[in-house]
Amino acid sequence: MALTIDDMPTLSTQRLVLRPPQPADAEDALALLQDEQVARWYPAPDVVDLASAAAWCTRGADWSRGDHATWHGVDPVTGRLVVNISLFSIDAEHSTAKVSYRVVPWQRRKGYAREAVLAVTSWAFAERGLARVQLEHSVANTASCGVAFGSGYGLEGTLRSAFVTADGVRQDVHVHGRLATDAPIPWGTSCQ
Ligand SMILES: CC(C)(COP(=O)(O)OP(=O)(O)OC[C@H]1O[C@@H](n2cnc3c(N)ncnc32)[C@H](O)[C@@H]1OP(=O)(O)O)[C@@H](O)C(=O)NCCC(=O)NCCS
Repeated sequence: MALTIDDMPTLSTQRLVLRPPQPADAEDALALLQDEQVARWYPAPDVVDLASAAAWCTRGADWSRGDHATWHGVDPVTGRLVVNISLFSIDAEHSTAKVSYRVVPWQRRKGYAREAVLAVTSWAFAERGLARVQLEHSVANTASCGVAFGSGYGLEGTLRSAFVTADGVRQDVHVHGRLATDAPIPWGTSCQ
């Protein structure tokens, strides 16, 4: 089932409003994508200036192909971007998807990634009817591993040498997964 513009929901969490990206988010989006950690682990290399950042936001708001659902979690008072989060590789036949996220550097270690992942995961299961959501990160990205465990995504295995970062280093990848039938937070809370 492809999502249409009418299906694009706004999700509310304790501290965020998650709504489709808007071109007006471009300035914060550019700062987000220029951050060293984002450039290392989750780059968007085609974004180089405000115009390309606005275009990136517009693309994120186009859910018409049905294979992704992307939100910007914003501060409900200021409207400023806090987290970019996507369900992607949505597979309607198998009712599966993957999730990934980026938090603006000035709002990290405040639980925003976990808050957004929990909200999007709940939507994926309850409203989108998915059975499984998968979360992958480089083994070296310990911050993302903490988000995974903190959001109830258990570690299922390691893909060896699965991709290469811009510095030419091949990366092992942790695969985490959460099922619609899992208890809310069923797993441990550390990658160690
Ligand atoms: C990974 C990222 C999204 C985490 O966002 P965040 O909002 O800071 O994460 P949270 O505050 O929700 O952290 C949840 C848990 O993750 C772990 N964690 C988060 N950042 C961490 C860090 N820098 N070092 C170690 N653990 C970290 C902790 O266990 C944390 O729980 P705690 O604060 O109660 O100890 C953020 O650092 C980021 O945008 N990084 C660059 C992009 C990226 O790597 N995206 C993921 C690609 S797979």
